[in-house]
Amino acid sequence: MKINKSFETQLDALDKDEQAVIKTALLALENSYAPYSHFKVGASLLLENDETVLGSNQENAAYPSGLCAERTALFSYGSSGIKSPIKIMAIIAFDKDQKQSDTCSPCGACRQVMFEYEQIQKKPYKVIFCYDGHIEILNSSAELLPYAFHF
Ligand code: THU
Repeated sequence: MKINKSFETQLDALDKDEQAVIKTALLALENSYAPYSHFKVGASLLLENDETVLGSNQENAAYPSGLCAERTALFSYGSSGIKSPIKIMAIIAFDKDQKQSDTCSPCGACRQVMFEYEQIQKKPYKVIFCYDGHIEILNSSAELLPYAFHF
């Protein structure tokens, strides 16, 4: 896996939590199972109690059975029963050439799930992802889903 220099420079400028959660997202990516798309995605949740929950995309020969990294991490968090709120979610992706992908903006289904976990905890969490070589930091997952569906 290759991380480009400008990404490292941007990483250095972030605060301690932001750097830590991006680094654990990179660790999560090592467990990606993507033999079909060869597009590896890692997601990491940094919780307020400083615990970390990891997720990565898991594909399957019956294609729709796979799951994105974001939802793998969030469903793992939700099903674990951990009560500490999510502070930051980071997402990072590598393409089939093992190069850091230009984009790892979450898909629509993941945005809906990200939004709902934020609603459950009644406070926003930051979302960090890479977009066209930039590290994008949003203060709330709700920014990714205007007019979100909710009960
Ligand atoms: N993928 C994610 O893990 N997150 C996203 O938000 C978009 C796509 C995964 C699903 C599939 O394993 C691979 O990337 C290619 O679509």
